[in-house]
Amino acid sequence: MGHSISSCVRQALALMAILINVAAADALWPLQTYKSSSIQTPYMNVTKMGQTEPGYLFLTPEDISRGTGHPAIYSDDGQLVWQGASGNYSALQPQILNGEPVIAYWSGYTGEGFGFGHISILNSSYDEIHRVTLSCQEQNFVTVFDTMAFDSCIDIHESQITANGTILVTAVNVTQADLSSIGGPKDGWIQDGLIYEIDILTNEILFRWSAHNHPAQVPLADVRAPLQGSGGSGVNSTYPYGYPHLNAIYKYGDDYLVSSRYMCSVFFIAHNGTVIWHLHGRTGGDFTLGLGTSFCYQHDVRFEFQSPERVTLSMHNNDNTEFTGHTSLTTGLVLDVELQGSKEVTLVSRLWDADEPVYAESQGSYQSLGNGHVLQDHGATPKIEEYDENGTIVMRARFGYDNTMQTYRTYRYSWVGRPSTKPDVVACPTSKGGQTAVYVSWNGATDVQSWKVYSGSEIKQTVPRNGFETTVLVAGLSDGDSVAVEAVGGVGDGIRSESVTVGQGC
Ligand SMILES: *[C@@H]1O[C@H](CO)[C@@H](O)[C@H](O)[C@H]1NC(C)=O
Ligand SMILES: *[C@@H]1O[C@H](CO)[C@@H](O)[C@H](O)[C@H]1NC(C)=O
Ligand SMILES: *[C@@H]1O[C@H](CO)[C@@H](O)[C@H](O)[C@H]1NC(C)=O
Ligand SMILES: *[C@@H]1O[C@H](CO)[C@@H](O)[C@H](O)[C@H]1NC(C)=O
Ligand SMILES: *[C@@H]1O[C@H](CO)[C@@H](O)[C@H](O)[C@H]1NC(C)=O
Ligand SMILES: *[C@@H]1O[C@H](CO)[C@@H](O)[C@H](O)[C@H]1NC(C)=O
Ligand SMILES: *[C@@H]1O[C@H](CO)[C@@H](O)[C@H](O)[C@H]1NC(C)=O
Ligand SMILES: *[C@@H]1O[C@H](CO)[C@@H](O)[C@H](O)[C@H]1NC(C)=O
Repeated sequence: MGHSISSCVRQALALMAILINVAAADALWPLQTYKSSSIQTPYMNVTKMGQTEPGYLFLTPEDISRGTGHPAIYSDDGQLVWQGASGNYSALQPQILNGEPVIAYWSGYTGEGFGFGHISILNSSYDEIHRVTLSCQEQNFVTVFDTMAFDSCIDIHESQITANGTILVTAVNVTQADLSSIGGPKDGWIQDGLIYEIDILTNEILFRWSAHNHPAQVPLADVRAPLQGSGGSGVNSTYPYGYPHLNAIYKYGDDYLVSSRYMCSVFFIAHNGTVIWHLHGRTGGDFTLGLGTSFCYQHDVRFEFQSPERVTLSMHNNDNTEFTGHTSLTTGLVLDVELQGSKEVTLVSRLWDADEPVYAESQGSYQSLGNGHVLQDHGATPKIEEYDENGTIVMRARFGYDNTMQTYRTYRYSWVGRPSTKPDVVACPTSKGGQTAVYVSWNGATDVQSWKVYSGSEIKQTVPRNGFETTVLVAGLSDGDSVAVEAVGGVGDGIRSESVTVGQGC
């Protein structure tokens, strides 16, 4: 009897928990707003359990419920550092171009799992110094959106700059293919996956490879996505089958490492287009999968080590999609692959947050940091994790409810921002005995130490910078007085805002 009552209570509690979760999912995730800036950004809830590596978090939070997305930088205390203009963004990564720190990202038109746009490369002043494009007309791209003309046909998934001043990107061409071998129409349609290496200065195409041009080495039968629903039925150009859904490219020497999400596969491709080897996460492909090495629907595959005999691969192993549902644990996976002899794949490490496990349906990233740390991002589950050298979680950061907020990837890098704009300031009277609240922010500045508040030529106060927006309470100002602020410390030392009038713009 007691047992049945308690199990009843447990069921009721479980039901309540479900109802609370539903309510939470329907609610909008809170936004951080400011007085000195019209910027709004998702509240970043950071919990630290240990020491994290230095650097800022670079991501492209997309607020699906409100329909806005931005490129953004956050600091480890959850404070915004920089936010760019609103739009559709993906594949953001700080990198080095010709010795200069830059940020590269994709922006443009997003479709079902792919997109059509260009890559912007910003310098540390957040000014666009290059725009990489791929002509839709010259390349004869066919898109799902056949009434639309895009300025450029680069896909959302990659923006990897090489040491030679070139960039690696993906592209999707909707084209016809015989799907009868997998139970589809003979005159079916696919989302052919292409990779391009493009010269950043000239936009010249240096390398081009299409999966569909290599049917024997990149076989249709290896696709795991179903021939229906969001996998794409392939019946016409509106519903092209998701073959092969490429989502990461890196170049090692003259060869290209390529990840195919819907094939659960990693390909190593020579400069002449030949597939050198193929690792399939369910069947092994050219290899034999050892215990715990199975993977599928993965993202952000890279070499951690490469020799002629052996490579070590890291990846964000989603192991889920929108058509499998939340069935498998998502992990950060590191695998050793013997390229010769035994051709065995062995498990090096598998990372997940045991207290708050994630079943990530789409997107995500895996980044090896210094001192054996790893940063993992979970895409459509808006959660970022950092692990120490022993695989112990040292940071969790949440910036939304699942499937209402997302970022394709998140990376941690050091960065010095030199905004070409001036600091923003607004001065507002308060109800506290004649005090004026001066709000100051400087979108993109990373190393301001303190703010000097001026009224005319008189320094009223100097206060330490406190997050994205610093509030300074100043006595002895009245409506109509003029106020300005000046940055102290860092690369913007001595740069002043415009003068503002107390009480205006509050
Ligand atoms: C932030 O995260 C912590 C730890 O998970 C949680 O206890 C807290 O409620 C969260 N705060 C908000 C405002 O969501
Ligand atoms: C973003 O993508 C949507 C389609 O998903 C499109 O309607 C919109 O025009 C795009 N925005 C930009 C700035 O390209
Ligand atoms: C960034 O580029 C802009 C435009 O070319 C230039 O004015 C600015 O000085 C550059 N910033 C840096 C730090 O090089
Ligand atoms: C895209 O497919 C069309 C045929 O549907 C073909 O003519 C064109 O060359 C392809 N473009 C690329 C970039 O592969
Ligand atoms: C594509 O197929 C779908 C499903 O059969 C159909 O509803 C749609 O009208 C077709 N579109 C075109 C352009 O033929
Ligand atoms: C850079 O170019 C050289 C000469 O063509 C080539 O050997 C090297 O592999 C290239 N490196 C990358 C990363 O593209
Ligand atoms: C392509 O390159 C690979 C790897 O370098 C080589 O083994 C193969 O023979 C080349 N194929 C052709 C057709 O040149
Ligand atoms: C990792 O484990 C080693 C061996 O147990 C230990 O000495 C070290 O302190 C651990 N590191 C951290 C950050 O806990």
